[in-house]
Amino acid sequence: MKTHIFLAGLAVCVTASCSRAQTTGGASPGAPHVVVVPPDEMTRQPSLAPSTATPAGETLRLPMPEASAPPMAAGAGTAAGRHSYTSCNVTDQSIAMTFDDGPHPQLTPRLLDMLKARNIKATFFVIGKNVEAYPEIAKRIVEEGHEIASHTWNHPALTKLSAARVKEEVDSTRQAIEQATGVTPKLIRPPYGAINAPLTKRLAEEFGNTVILWSVDPLDWKYRNSQRVMSQILDHTKPGAIVLSHDIHATTVNAMPDTLDALQAKGFTFVTVSELLTKDRPVEMVRRDPPAVAP
Ligand code: NI
Repeated sequence: MKTHIFLAGLAVCVTASCSRAQTTGGASPGAPHVVVVPPDEMTRQPSLAPSTATPAGETLRLPMPEASAPPMAAGAGTAAGRHSYTSCNVTDQSIAMTFDDGPHPQLTPRLLDMLKARNIKATFFVIGKNVEAYPEIAKRIVEEGHEIASHTWNHPALTKLSAARVKEEVDSTRQAIEQATGVTPKLIRPPYGAINAPLTKRLAEEFGNTVILWSVDPLDWKYRNSQRVMSQILDHTKPGAIVLSHDIHATTVNAMPDTLDALQAKGFTFVTVSELLTKDRPVEMVRRDPPAVAP
């Protein structure tokens, strides 16, 4: 169940959380995501309810639909100059499946087997300390054609950290990924979706990372029910979607064979997030229902 907390001039939308235990950064296991949407993103979202700017210049999102609430509504914007995405505007049926908080020693290899059997490419937002613990699984992710990206070293809310601590989280994770895989991650998913405009800009300019949020959230960390994970994903996934899941929960990985098969049956094609970004188009160029052609 999602909770909306309204504080003096702030509307805080409490949505999902990643379930990886927090050892630093203040958030406790199971703590909710607090999603902060940059003002420039809000202004592109006509479908969002009015919002209130905070003294810090952050604009906080108002209530979104239950269960599949994205950090911001999907759709607006163009690829040019953007450093943050929740979804893309695509002219085909592409979607990106993303898996957070691994690698997990048993579940991630199981998921990789499922993806391999279907020739599906996904994106893994990994925790740096887990890459350090399981470098061979990180290497396998890359060897099998998936994208590997940063989810920080220890899963803190980056918006609560000093600039120096943010640098530590980003740099140490990049180094672990590079050491295990030879790949430098280009994307970062901030834990809890906690982000703001200045931090987005810094991640892009100082670290060369694009911020990737999501448009479909099955709340798989909260509802450990494979059928629910599947139905939420199937109900909410549209072309250009970025689907959030966690490869550290058996219920999520168990849901994947049927979920992936059903998404394929609906005509979706699976690409990595970086591939999806290359397909992003200005919203006015994306037409879903062209007029029927006269016979
Ligand atoms: Ni997470």
